[in-house]
Amino acid sequence: MKAIDLRVENQVRPLGLGEASPRFSWRYEGSPSNYVQGVYHIEVARSADFRMALWSSGLMSGAESHLVPYLGPPLEPGSRYWFRIRAGSSEAAISEWSDPSWFETALDPRFSEPGAWPFPFITAERLSDARSSAATSLEKTLELPFTPVSARVRATALGLYELTLNGEKVSEARLTPGWTAYGKRLAYQTYDVTGRLKRGVNVIAAMLGPGWYKGEMTWLKSRNLYGKRTAFSCQLEALGPGGEIFSASTDPSWEGRDSPLLFAEIYHGEIYDARLERKGALRPVSLLKLPEVAVVPQDGPPVLPHERFAARKIATPLGDFVLDFGQNLTGWVEFRVEGLPGERLVLSHAETLDASGNFYTKNLRRARNRVEYFLRGGPPELFSPRFSFQGFRYIRIEEWPGKDRGLEPSPKDFTAVVIRSSMEETLTFECSHPGLNQLHHNIAWGWKGNAVDIPTDCPQRDERLGWTGDAQIFAATASRLCRTDRFFLKWLRDLRADQRPDGGVPFVIPDVLSNNPKKEPMMESTHSSTGWADAAVMVPWEVYRASGDLRILEESWPSMKAWVEYIRARAEDGLLWNTGFHFGDWVALDAKEGSFFGATPNDLTATAYYARSTEILAETARILGKDAEARDYGALHKQIVGAFRAEFLTARGRLASRTQTAHILALAFGLAPEEHVARIIRDLLRLLDENDGHLTTGFLGTPAFCDALSGSGRLDRAYALLLKEDFPSWLYQVGKGATTVWEHWDGLKPDGRMWSAKMNSFNHYAYGAVGDWMYRTIGGIEQERDSAGYRRIVFKPRPGGGLTWARQELETPYGKAAMSWSIADGIWSLEFEVPPNASARLVLPSGETRWGSGSWSVEEEIPTAAVR
Ligand code: BGC
Repeated sequence: MKAIDLRVENQVRPLGLGEASPRFSWRYEGSPSNYVQGVYHIEVARSADFRMALWSSGLMSGAESHLVPYLGPPLEPGSRYWFRIRAGSSEAAISEWSDPSWFETALDPRFSEPGAWPFPFITAERLSDARSSAATSLEKTLELPFTPVSARVRATALGLYELTLNGEKVSEARLTPGWTAYGKRLAYQTYDVTGRLKRGVNVIAAMLGPGWYKGEMTWLKSRNLYGKRTAFSCQLEALGPGGEIFSASTDPSWEGRDSPLLFAEIYHGEIYDARLERKGALRPVSLLKLPEVAVVPQDGPPVLPHERFAARKIATPLGDFVLDFGQNLTGWVEFRVEGLPGERLVLSHAETLDASGNFYTKNLRRARNRVEYFLRGGPPELFSPRFSFQGFRYIRIEEWPGKDRGLEPSPKDFTAVVIRSSMEETLTFECSHPGLNQLHHNIAWGWKGNAVDIPTDCPQRDERLGWTGDAQIFAATASRLCRTDRFFLKWLRDLRADQRPDGGVPFVIPDVLSNNPKKEPMMESTHSSTGWADAAVMVPWEVYRASGDLRILEESWPSMKAWVEYIRARAEDGLLWNTGFHFGDWVALDAKEGSFFGATPNDLTATAYYARSTEILAETARILGKDAEARDYGALHKQIVGAFRAEFLTARGRLASRTQTAHILALAFGLAPEEHVARIIRDLLRLLDENDGHLTTGFLGTPAFCDALSGSGRLDRAYALLLKEDFPSWLYQVGKGATTVWEHWDGLKPDGRMWSAKMNSFNHYAYGAVGDWMYRTIGGIEQERDSAGYRRIVFKPRPGGGLTWARQELETPYGKAAMSWSIADGIWSLEFEVPPNASARLVLPSGETRWGSGSWSVEEEIPTAAVR
């Protein structure tokens, strides 16, 4: 049984790996029964034949097969290393060597120290171009003395860049170099360009657009938040057949010019004039001094094109030319167009139609989401945006060649292309309830649409920011849907870079509110709102739990701790947090008319979250072997819980705030003493009943609602809540034809009216956080409290709500875990799969059983009442 699926730092054959001691993971061929690894052997070499091993772990006893560190001599920068694995249940049963895999190290880590990047940044923009949204081009002709056997380019930019070699894009990656805390961290990418260079003349060129760096950001119409001019930096290194090296980098000998991309803004779209391709006069470039920024190897996954959707023409009452792609998505439209030079194609994008079925863009606020293309003329032309993206399901074609001659565009010339950070999808879920299947789809698409290099609130209006609260709420669900480790690793590094010296955590990461000269009047601060800033603690925790990657906790520890200490310093007696600005139970339905702020008092939500973050911090300390801190934070947690009870719970267990969210948090965060749980759940059910069984909760209450019910013995009510179909509910949105999750329960009201266009996104993942409950409870796959990476699985499906079957597969770091169950004639049949080198506990009403790896099935009688 060979080791397969070799990874290093959770990646397959990465280029430009920055970790000094990378860690290896592997899985096994086939699905052996009761397999536990007893021995393993790792070898690392400079060549694929392994003739000269650089490091051999030797035959090691142990069950580790995930993230096992390299312990050999220091790795050289910019080099390829091969590795292979053999492993087995015992020395006698050790496998043959796996197929080799490899990784390449990043540049010398000293280059990544602040201000130390050695390759000049050049710009074709002038000092007066700060407000320009046009893209510029930079290029250089290189004479290569040989056809390389190997060549790499490392590149980055202030702004966004698209790099070409001899006219061809070097990569599928989009929106490079991605969005980081630019003032402190900027990523460089590494490309293998071996096949793209030839002996003789080669042209290396980059197009640069404003992007997140200097373009318009936030609803405050701010721009130039990081700088005034775009700039580019790259290094090329090519190896000749005789071992000779050719290298070059950006320098003052490059030339620049205006580009055909006359306008490109993340929010507003693009204007491209194909007649201007390679036409502008070349001019000298200027060198730009980079402030003290660390230029680091890219740590997150690249943004790549993914799914493609075909269009269907629909009729609208206004008679617009509207195409429907059938899915609310994030990306852009790729189109083919043919016509005369200078004729135009103009597209607008929209997420939804209005009540009368017309194209609706008001909720995009000031984001124009418009693409305008001037034709070159001649053979068919293909175009898609490069420095903007759109959140949409519909497009309106406003101008097209031949419009005045009565010609019509053909829908087949328009394809919606989804772009997002490339993360392996890990979950499939299906059950007997079609509405829940659609809800699962919507949850998954909410994540797909809001994972464009950073976790965003929404992908369409003039926002698309890394709102910490949204990420905090959704991280657990996201980490079931996908392998999120690299994605959040990167974002958490930006969170730490932007965290304040006093431990405060900005509302958005990267933080474009604190450095923003304009201020939002509604917000008294730009950082440290409860439930939002707790992302500093809760996101690393959820990612660790899903991925089994301890390093994410190690790296995050100081920031997690600083956040909890920030609160402690501001809380009354260090325990009751009753100061500061908070979003609270944001957009809850119990908010006052026209307000976003839910009715649950901030001191209650803030103290509840303080307790929960401190509890996680104590647990993290324990896992990291920081015993004293584990004890201290454990004690602090108890005291906070005590303060919560003293302030918000009467002696007989009545909560001081009569809102659903107050009760949910008290139950879900374990804040109530055992003897009061029954009372609190009774009160919560009463609050539900007063609303005809409907929720009134916002961002803080909703994610834990089903858990608060099912965790307190009311699984039936959790199902009833989840399965509600009338307004407001998850399935109400489904019934309204949603293909993503909405920001507001009442985004579209039953009478067809919409929530104010001032803030009404139809693609906001936050309320999709119920997915985590669905996948655990219906899908039945969770893990032991002290397990990570699903090493010790708990299968505990809990049927209800009349569901008769469910199927779920979860790709864990150890391999596929699966659970599928069905109920017929009072018999409950379960089939499940445990990945090799993992184990499981199956929990059923009749009792518990333990299982090793392999595919298994059991049956048991189930009383009908248990299922309803
Ligand atoms: C965003 C939210 C965010 C909130 C802060 C909104 O504009 O879209 O999702 O968390 O502001 O309360």
